[in-house]
Amino acid sequence: MQNHHLKEHLYKILVIGDLGVGKTSIIKRYVHQNFSANYRATIGVDFALKVLSLEHETVRLQLWDIAGQERFGNMTRVYYREAVGAFIVFDVTRPSTFEAVKKWKEDLDAKLNLSNGKRVTAVLLANKCDEGRDVLTNNGIRMEQFCQENGFVGCFETSAKENINIDEAAQCLVKHIIANEKDLLQSEVSDTISPQQETGRGGTCSMCFTS
Ligand code: GTP
Ligand code: MG
Repeated sequence: MQNHHLKEHLYKILVIGDLGVGKTSIIKRYVHQNFSANYRATIGVDFALKVLSLEHETVRLQLWDIAGQERFGNMTRVYYREAVGAFIVFDVTRPSTFEAVKKWKEDLDAKLNLSNGKRVTAVLLANKCDEGRDVLTNNGIRMEQFCQENGFVGCFETSAKENINIDEAAQCLVKHIIANEKDLLQSEVSDTISPQQETGRGGTCSMCFTS
């Protein structure tokens, strides 16, 4: 075993947000590299595993794909237990799903207490950016402010359909989780801007904050 010295991590990651925003599609794209235009609502919760081989560690992401309809149920407390990270997803074409982001974040912070007293590491995903930007993501500064006010460590415009920014968003989340664990937020997390921002395609809501 040559890699016996590599660190191994298993992280439970939640994927939450309103009905039909694309949570299952994002996971499918990230883990299985495919996409389907057919909508089948998730019932309860589904699971997927993504393995990342980083330079000094192997990271296993156990992704919990929680049905949008669970916001109105009582199960989220059970599903959230022991999670260390979360993607909160909205649909850029439907303003109501953005309004729900705060509710999801509050639900998360209220029900999930980390042992170190911190809030769970959360990244905001503005999904379906292939369908246009609509009202919400036109103003990058406002999104940045929204993220900082609501305790998100990053925000990405994503498309499960066209495979935009999903890897970048996951990298941002993992970096912050690892940095949190090590309790150092220095050089490793200092490349704050996702390369996608420069292409003019990902645009105004693609950033990973340093802390
Ligand atoms: P629930 O399980 O009900 O909570 O929904 P969900 O958030 O898992 O949504 P799902 O991934 O099932 O996607 C809902 C619909 O949106 C499907 O028809 C997808 O094909 C479509 N969709 C998902 N992501 C994208 C995207 O990035 N772009 C476009 N154009 N459509 C997408
Ligand atoms: Mg689903």
